[in-house]
Amino acid sequence: MAGIARVVVDAWRATFAGLLPEDFLKGMSYRHQEQRHSRYLGHAGVVYYVAEDEKGEVVGFASGGPSRHSGFPQEAEVYALYLLPGYQRRKIGSALFAEVARDLGDMEHKGLLALALENNPNKVFYERLRGRPAATGPLTLGETAIGQIAYVWDDLPALIESLRGYAE
Ligand SMILES: CC(C)(COP(=O)(O)OP(=O)(O)OC[C@H]1O[C@@H](n2cnc3c(N)ncnc32)[C@H](O)[C@@H]1OP(=O)(O)O)[C@@H](O)C(=O)NCCC(=O)NCCS
Repeated sequence: MAGIARVVVDAWRATFAGLLPEDFLKGMSYRHQEQRHSRYLGHAGVVYYVAEDEKGEVVGFASGGPSRHSGFPQEAEVYALYLLPGYQRRKIGSALFAEVARDLGDMEHKGLLALALENNPNKVFYERLRGRPAATGPLTLGETAIGQIAYVWDDLPALIESLRGYAE
């Protein structure tokens, strides 16, 4: 779990430097993320996949499970998808996303959603996978409310099919 926590914190700090309040990014802690993800991992229907380097260090991960947002008909959600900066744009994110989507499809979920912060330049990743942008409420980080976009896929089996070749 320490590897996952490191990826979350380091990826957030790299991605959102200058885009999110500095105090919030500074205040992120490996320990808090470790506790948070240990809790999630124990929930029914939650899946995690990690990517490791040649030394077995975690360099990225994706997680998903039942949707946490009641306003959407899509029942499944990709909760997190993060890679360390040096490992991006090598299709590792596509592979992790494909693995999680496939597992959620195997659980008979019919639709999928994934939330991204509005100011995250990497949201293009979901647009390229033809996620349909839908309005959703902001995420509150400390004192600041940050806009979010929900990307939705109504047909999870079709999404999984389109990702064939990425999942192992
Ligand atoms: C977003 C993220 C998970 C994508 O994973 P990745 O392994 O880097 O992406 P892939 O190599 O699988 O990219 C697939 C395609 O998505 C698109 N894409 C991915 N990231 C992009 C970016 N930052 N800008 C523009 N297009 C992007 C490209 O079309 C890319 O294909 P190409 O490289 O052949 O042009 C990864 O970059 C990451 O962890 N970023 C930091 C954390 C983050 O923002 N996570 C939340 C995602 S909204």
